[in-house]
Amino acid sequence: MKQHKVGIILNGVTGRMGTNQHLERSILAIIEQGGIKVSDDEVIMPDPILTGRNENKLKALSARYGVEKYSTDLDAVLADPDYEVFFDASSTLLRKPFVEKAVAAGKAIYCEKPTAAHVEDAVYLYRICREAGLKNGVVQDKLWLPGLRKFQMLKDQGFFGKILSVRGEFGYWVFDGKVADQPTQRPSWNYRAEDGGGMVLDMHCHWRYVIDNLFGNVKAVSCRQATHLDERIDESGNAYTCTADDAAYATFELDNGVICHFNSSWTVRVRRDDLLCMQVDGTEGSAVVGLRKCLIQPHSATPKAVWNPDVDNPVSYFDQWTEVPDACVYENAFKVQWELFLRHVVLDEPFRWTLLEGAKGVQLAERSMESNEKRAWVDVENLV
Ligand SMILES: NC(=O)c1ccc[n+]([C@@H]2O[C@H](COP(=O)([O-])OP(=O)(O)OC[C@H]3O[C@@H](n4cnc5c(N)ncnc54)[C@H](O)[C@@H]3O)[C@@H](O)[C@H]2O)c1
Repeated sequence: MKQHKVGIILNGVTGRMGTNQHLERSILAIIEQGGIKVSDDEVIMPDPILTGRNENKLKALSARYGVEKYSTDLDAVLADPDYEVFFDASSTLLRKPFVEKAVAAGKAIYCEKPTAAHVEDAVYLYRICREAGLKNGVVQDKLWLPGLRKFQMLKDQGFFGKILSVRGEFGYWVFDGKVADQPTQRPSWNYRAEDGGGMVLDMHCHWRYVIDNLFGNVKAVSCRQATHLDERIDESGNAYTCTADDAAYATFELDNGVICHFNSSWTVRVRRDDLLCMQVDGTEGSAVVGLRKCLIQPHSATPKAVWNPDVDNPVSYFDQWTEVPDACVYENAFKVQWELFLRHVVLDEPFRWTLLEGAKGVQLAERSMESNEKRAWVDVENLV
């Protein structure tokens, strides 16, 4: 069996996303399955090295997962020609200096979103990669979730007719940490603007690629941000002031006329099918798209709803939908995209989820904040 060994620098992977999604469920899962099979006698095999600031954390991670190589000396690792890919899942505010260094070292670049905190920086990172002729990509994991793939299949089959509107409802209650038995479940930086936190910067990056890929290109946004909880408890048990938005209520206008409204909140209790649900209404049918499931109601089976608040409602609206069955094996969404990126690096296969697409996400977040500040609709212009 011919092996294409690909040296991958995994930077900042001691964090939540880096450890769970990128190291364990993507890179190690690929190694465990015997690499990415590209033909009967050829595989692409990742060869990871962990880099970060904290030797003890790296050592523990390396021991826990059996990844032999780790280093706190990123410059030395970048200088090693055995590593051709640089991946970053560290803090959003550090992305730019890390990616700049890796570009100077001539590595292929792959990183988490947001690719930067400001659109100028995000476009700059794309430009320096392009000018250096380096392959590049951004994590856009939601595109490979089973629910969204089922939506895409239905759309390709013409299920919806003309799509009219999309209602996205995302979020759950993130505990503030003030009750001992209800510890918070997300890192505290998410609620501090000065550390790169905030709902819009986090989630509107996702909504940009979800909307662009599934529903149509975003052309304008109207957004109201809110910081509903103004104090939370951090990892050391100290109270801190929340300086970032913990909810956003946004309407997006698309160039094909579709209207999307997304509510995103860390201060909402869940009474819906999933933590993310997008109801898509079309002339010929509707779907409720969750992370894994997708429920449909075709026009021909749409019951007649009758308004009568004087009697108890005799029907369950939830029962009027049919689940789209699993049609294949849906692998971890991050892993699917990693495999596509590594095939791009080794085999030169196309990969369209570049840093330019990442910059579009940051752009939508920035335009959303501008809309909030101005209390007005803001156009989302073409980036390049
Ligand atoms: N794709 C997604 O769905 C998704 C979800 C959550 C977070 N993210 C993104 O992933 C990134 C990390 O988020 P997280 O939730 O894992 O946060 P986290 O706080 O759990 O992890 C951040 C990591 O960065 C490391 N780090 C900080 N400073 C560093 C430095 N100077 N050098 C090296 N490493 C350093 C920390 O040690 C930690 O390992 C953020 O940019 C975030 O926006 C993406």
